[in-house]
Amino acid sequence: MTGIRGSKVAVIGAGAVGTSIAYASLIRGSAREVALYDIAAEKVDAEVLDLAHGTQFTGASVTGGADPAVLEGSDLVIVTAGAKQQPGQTRLELAGTNIRILEQLLPQVQERAPDATILLVTNPVDVLTVAAQQITGLPSGRVFGSGTVLDTSRLRWLLGRRLGVGTASVHADIVGEHGDTEFALWSTAMIGPVPLLEWAGPNRLSTADLDEIAAEVRDAAYRVIAGKGATNYAIGLAVARIVEAVVDDEQVVIPVSTVLDDYRGISGVALSVPCLVGAQGPTPVVGTSFSYAEDQKLRASAHAIRETLASVGV
Ligand code: 2OP
Repeated sequence: MTGIRGSKVAVIGAGAVGTSIAYASLIRGSAREVALYDIAAEKVDAEVLDLAHGTQFTGASVTGGADPAVLEGSDLVIVTAGAKQQPGQTRLELAGTNIRILEQLLPQVQERAPDATILLVTNPVDVLTVAAQQITGLPSGRVFGSGTVLDTSRLRWLLGRRLGVGTASVHADIVGEHGDTEFALWSTAMIGPVPLLEWAGPNRLSTADLDEIAAEVRDAAYRVIAGKGATNYAIGLAVARIVEAVVDDEQVVIPVSTVLDDYRGISGVALSVPCLVGAQGPTPVVGTSFSYAEDQKLRASAHAIRETLASVGV
């Protein structure tokens, strides 16, 4: 990875998620060039044109089309292509279909952008991160998933509103699967300098309140999908933020999904845990403390991902 914000980022998939990532990255100036690629030529050309028409207001450039040559020279390739959840469907149910898409797509990515880091966004993102690592043979730092960065943003927004505290002062993470077994790391959550579990302000939260908030985060995507068919804006912003962490070599701590290697005794599955993220990709932060109950929940997430991997023969 070279240069501060001097990078080319390619987004594969010109659907609601891919275009929102491109739009958010352009507005935030996350990269020098954003290239959008999709096999649907008419759609991708129209999306690129629509984004390019705003260039006066962004400074970054947008390119793209249906020729995989648009991937060439990319430092980071973001994969959003694949089937999306239908109302009521779980993320894990998409595994087989979307792994087959990766099997077609990733060899092309490696041919066109052999040095690129690959960021998976397509669901089930943890399962696909493991599959992508196996398909490409790349090390964990070069293939990772957007994981629970979005869920964490949902959590911080809800907590901030309930407590009457600005989101920037809420330090709390959702970890584990980006899906139904995800959970909040309450034991290490902080509100400014105060541990959340010791917060004694007027809006003090009970255990029942915390359970309700965690459930609302877990079910957030189902609610949005039921109402508008997809989630796109918040994932666009979350991924633009991950792009910046990599492109600017920020070494920021965020919960992305990475294939674990003896993390609390868990190996071979991708889950989100607090990671240092920079140009080298994610490195899990050693020493993150988990309560006994949180540790059990992490194992339940690992089990869910392992079962799905086994069911699709990965
Ligand atoms: C989300 O959480 C559906 O994974 C997507 O918004």
